[in-house]
Amino acid sequence: MTRKEALNSIKANVENKNLIKHMLATEAIMRTLAERLGEDEKEWGLTGLLHDIDVELTGGDMNSHSKLGADLVMELGASEAMAHAILCHNPAHGTPRETSLDKALFCVDPLTGLITAATLVLPDKKLAGLKAKSVRKRFKEKSFAAGANREYISLCSELGLDLDEFIELGLKAMQGIADDLGL
Ligand SMILES: [Fe+2]
Repeated sequence: MTRKEALNSIKANVENKNLIKHMLATEAIMRTLAERLGEDEKEWGLTGLLHDIDVELTGGDMNSHSKLGADLVMELGASEAMAHAILCHNPAHGTPRETSLDKALFCVDPLTGLITAATLVLPDKKLAGLKAKSVRKRFKEKSFAAGANREYISLCSELGLDLDEFIELGLKAMQGIADDLGL
């Protein structure tokens, strides 16, 4: 599967622009994380890019979200490893996270939300001016972007990264595609 094919499939299945931006942000961080860990950047990037492809199709039904997505990406030619990571990024199914790819997608997904929210409260709403230190501070404020699950983000430790490095890496990755994110 090429990135273009993945994007075409996303365009066919997802209308919400913010959801698409979230998937692009997840892709960017997954690629950077793969590079840091010596993993397959293409596979990790595509997994991040496609992980929420079924959100609109499943209409918010958490019992089918990510099950359908895993099936869809397999049809697109994704590897079983990619499909498994997508399946278990939704904790509702209770599918254990086994591989580094599974674990990476799980902690990257909520990090994009925290960084986006921390950007949107800046006066210029631009990623360029956001500091990792500020994201770290926001991380500690429980009521800030409460949907960005701090416990899940902290699971970066399972990949051998401490929180500071993870936040810094995620921020840099998102800053690298700021234009695509409109931030
Ligand atoms: Fe997501």
